[in-house]
Amino acid sequence: MRRVVCPGSFDPVTNGHLDIIGRASGLYDEVVVAVLINITKKSLFSVDERVAMLGEVTKGYGNVRVERFHGLLVDFCAANGITAIVKGLRAVSDFEYEMQMAQMNYRLAKVETMFMTTNPLYSFLSSSLIKEIATYGGDVSGLVPEIVLTELRARLKDLSSAARRLPAMSWESHAGAGRLIGRFSHRQTR
Ligand code: PNS
Repeated sequence: MRRVVCPGSFDPVTNGHLDIIGRASGLYDEVVVAVLINITKKSLFSVDERVAMLGEVTKGYGNVRVERFHGLLVDFCAANGITAIVKGLRAVSDFEYEMQMAQMNYRLAKVETMFMTTNPLYSFLSSSLIKEIATYGGDVSGLVPEIVLTELRARLKDLSSAARRLPAMSWESHAGAGRLIGRFSHRQTR
């Protein structure tokens, strides 16, 4: 069986991710979408929430399985009989970092990386940008699946009303909102 892994943070999954996952599902017998458990990185959605959303939006493909992992991706690959990683390349700016990881993963365990050029409709998309635009009231419909849009609006509404319940503090200084804003200072993740 030709099995490939599509790894990432997916906080949250975007239509750009989904495009890559869908195209990979047409090329391989099975696509394992692997959500990184990273306790050092701030996230808007928990790993369980991200896995649930991914499961929902990929259920139509039939050969896509969603898992979580921690530690090295190559170890996850070895444990799951996976010999290749699939990644989307949005722009030249992605290339340097992705090439470094691809070469290291090959050096570590001879795991290959297959790059797909991102659909130009989504080449400007990243999860971080989606969160930032949505936080400030921008319209991200059409850029994320419908269920993600619903979850995103609900999560941001919760954080916004939590911030309003603390009148002495500004939106930015409220712990929840501050954490949320802080998230966007990270490297633009997929
Ligand atoms: O969506 P992201 O955050 O850009 O995904 C990055 C990810 C999860 C693919 C990458 O950080 C990763 O593979 N992490 C697992 C740890 C690991 O194997 N690190 C060495 C990479 S050479």
